[in-house]
Amino acid sequence: MTETLLTADPAREDAVRLVVGEPAEFGYRSFELGAFRFSRDEYFVRITWPTGSHLMEIGQFLHVLVRTMGQDFFFGWVFFDDVFGTLNRYGQIELFAGTYSPAHRDAGAAHSEIVDSTEAHALFLAIATDWVNEGYDPMAEPGEAGSPFGPKGAPSTASLNRGFTAIPQRMLGLEGDVPVRSEAAGQHVNRAFADLDLDVPEVLPEPGFEGRLHAINAFDHIARSDVSWIPSVVSVTKDSITCMSSEEDRLRITHGNDRPEWFIQLTDEIHWDIADKESGAPCGRVVMRPGDVAAMPADIRHKGYAPKRAMLLVIENMTSGLPELYAEGKLPPHPVEF
Ligand code: PHB
Ligand code: FE
Repeated sequence: MTETLLTADPAREDAVRLVVGEPAEFGYRSFELGAFRFSRDEYFVRITWPTGSHLMEIGQFLHVLVRTMGQDFFFGWVFFDDVFGTLNRYGQIELFAGTYSPAHRDAGAAHSEIVDSTEAHALFLAIATDWVNEGYDPMAEPGEAGSPFGPKGAPSTASLNRGFTAIPQRMLGLEGDVPVRSEAAGQHVNRAFADLDLDVPEVLPEPGFEGRLHAINAFDHIARSDVSWIPSVVSVTKDSITCMSSEEDRLRITHGNDRPEWFIQLTDEIHWDIADKESGAPCGRVVMRPGDVAAMPADIRHKGYAPKRAMLLVIENMTSGLPELYAEGKLPPHPVEF
């Protein structure tokens, strides 16, 4: 038996209708949006659509679900695995299953649906609220996350949106702008960065430039992040945004770019698996060490691996209409010809 719930205020016109099932065998509810249905047991999420179905390990699913929700569906494609994922159409979200898997496409088992971002967000929030139990923190590193498995327990007490910081207007730490992370705010330096020199820059403006010059130690800011693979914006110059993040273990999504992304490796080492976005066929592997710069093309999907917690700087071009220009082939997918 299923009941229909309104997840937003029923009086509002943008209220979202999700079909929510009664608790099933292991105590978890199922959720339906459009023709997609999501249910879970002790170990797996089961995703079904009219022409197919798919199982995914529940920890992988919940981790990606929570981070994707926190990042407003990120840029472009978020592949939960080779089969299921989301495409950000900025205002709308395409949910897809098998669309970028040649075997599913050939078998006629691929399916995708475009929903409003508010609907996709309501679906993800409802699933996370029902399926994340106390004792499991999907935002933590694998060794500290607890277990996502088993029957339904008490509701989670972990903050599921930590790490998703506000975007600075101009620059982190400027007066009136987003503050840099600090010891005073209870944000401790991660053990992997204990050897970094985290002194504060001295700013000596010429007369007349007081209050107009600003500098921070961005390494200090990132060393205090308690999440990994969540790029946080450190500065904004017109349509160009600079993000920094700490990376450890593996990026649990496979990201499909909708524009080129510039990477500058700041510390330690990250290995990237690069594959064709449409088919998933491997294109290569990029190993980045401090000082290395890469432009990740607009037509690939990639997944990163960091054997030791590392710092990465990412530059994103936010020019509106850019994803369409790449999708239509009006711009080459890579910014440099060799
Ligand atoms: C990316 O997919 O481009 C990406 C994702 C998370 C990061 C860095 C880069 O922390
Ligand atoms: Fe990317």
